[in-house]
Amino acid sequence: MRKWLLGAPVAALAAVAAADLRQTRYPILRTFPVLGHARMALTSIGPELRQYIVAGNDEERPFTRNQRDWIYESAEGRATTFSFGTDDDVEFLEGYPVVKQRTFTGVTVSAHAHSGERLPLPPAKVLGAARGRARAFRPDSLVTISGMSYGSLSGPAVESLNRGAAVAGALHNTGEGGLSPHHQNGADLIFQIGTAYFGVRDADGRFDMDRLVALTEKHPVRAIEIKLSQGAKPGLGGLLPASKITEEIAQIRGIPTGEDCASPSRHTAFRDVDSMLDLVEEIADRTGLPVGIKSAVGEMEFWQELAAAMSSGERGVDFITIDGGEGGTGAAPLVFSDAVSLPFRLGFPRVYRIFAEAGLTDDVVFIGSGKLGIPENAAVAFALGVDMIAVAREAMLSVGCIQAQKCHTDRCPTGVATQHPWLVRGVDPADKSVRSAAYLRSLKRELIKVSGAVGVPHPALIRPEDVELVTGTRESSTLAEIYGYREGWGLPGPSDVAEITEIMVANGLAEHTAAYAPPGVRLTDRPTPP
Ligand SMILES: Cc1cc2nc3c(=O)[nH]c(=O)nc-3n(C[C@H](O)[C@H](O)[C@H](O)COP(=O)(O)O)c2cc1C
Ligand code: SF4
Repeated sequence: MRKWLLGAPVAALAAVAAADLRQTRYPILRTFPVLGHARMALTSIGPELRQYIVAGNDEERPFTRNQRDWIYESAEGRATTFSFGTDDDVEFLEGYPVVKQRTFTGVTVSAHAHSGERLPLPPAKVLGAARGRARAFRPDSLVTISGMSYGSLSGPAVESLNRGAAVAGALHNTGEGGLSPHHQNGADLIFQIGTAYFGVRDADGRFDMDRLVALTEKHPVRAIEIKLSQGAKPGLGGLLPASKITEEIAQIRGIPTGEDCASPSRHTAFRDVDSMLDLVEEIADRTGLPVGIKSAVGEMEFWQELAAAMSSGERGVDFITIDGGEGGTGAAPLVFSDAVSLPFRLGFPRVYRIFAEAGLTDDVVFIGSGKLGIPENAAVAFALGVDMIAVAREAMLSVGCIQAQKCHTDRCPTGVATQHPWLVRGVDPADKSVRSAAYLRSLKRELIKVSGAVGVPHPALIRPEDVELVTGTRESSTLAEIYGYREGWGLPGPSDVAEITEIMVANGLAEHTAAYAPPGVRLTDRPTPP
């Protein structure tokens, strides 16, 4: 009996060794039979191990440990303070952003640790107002949940984000995979139209306007976003691996199970700027909703043509979402995630400049995405002229993602980006929705506080002159100098400035201590202090 006990493991190891030596797929196992498995096991859990044991506070990408800690603490609803000073390599980093505080100011914001986080923080511009859309509106929150489809995310993850967004007053973008039951838990929606037209396509897979109109009438859709491209995979259509396509997802999208679902790389409902704007106007007429586009930034001809076509004022998009090349995805070839399309801080200013030179920035709400759910990145984006930000992976982190980067495998260990029934159980919407709401509130709170430090009542009023990018201890330049912004660029128009200042005061988020006008801006209607 004892001999048998000893012999069994030896025989098992011998069998594994024999199989390793015979196989040709993994050289490491042919060279190091049995032992090679230990290395492979360690490699497969490397990202998780590095996070817990090895990584420093500013290592790890896409989000550093400090950034993730900030999100996790925010999601817990705790005051997100850190001690002992920065551990960033401030003196040596290239392009380190520094926001410049102002000593005396006409407006103050409350100093309380949690001030403002439960109050609305709307954008300075009204979505759809410039083009007089029937259902133009000012969202309650300038932070939105960025498009992530049900399919790439699990049902409970989508539900958690939706319920959290409802509590925090944020809009929730459906992503290109259609409007699922998980999106119907209280939040107002931006419905995204992707190249496969999931949820609004006919039997042949073409865009179906009547279906879109019916969908917007049935659900709380407040805006429509036509997705042209995404920072992590521009020029490529969406991809949902077969392993993640359940019966429910197949039914929502109108696709078969058992095979990868690859969307076309480009739209079939329009073929150039001209036909795109025709479609935008038709959708806006039929639904009354603001209609925008989402795009990564590559060649600039498209943007020049768009601004030129909008100059007459006859047709135009209501909002433009610029997604940085550093943005996330559920699945994409590495070369696209790493190397195609410009990062946000290069791409956005190029587009903004074109619209500023054409005098069109007051007519468009600019939404930015690409790691902007971290307050310092958001502050830079607002200084560059965004009106709203969209957050995707940061919101995923708030509902439990640990950045294991296995979203494409259906083996997400936390249940956030999988359809595996056992793993999906990891996400409890009752708990995670509280966390996502708390994260959204904390981001809002920190944006209010940083605006207060700059001496302005709202993040959109942070000017490109108020933020510098620092190179070591010798050089730094303002965003205005770096990106060639002229005076007044990056800010909403004077009437929007006056209006948002009054809203912030009325909402109790800011107080006049003197007549206020943002430095460098001449207001025709300066608000009078009470
Ligand atoms: C899992 C996942 C799924 C995504 N799905 C979509 C999508 O359906 N449509 C879209 O426009 N962008 C999609 N994105 C991109 C995000 O909306 C966002 O633009 C990008 O991740 C940048 O934001 P972030 O840095 O806050 O993550 C997805 C991103 C992730 C991580
Ligand atoms: S969603 Fe899941 S697989 Fe994707 S990065 Fe987060 S923990 Fe990893």
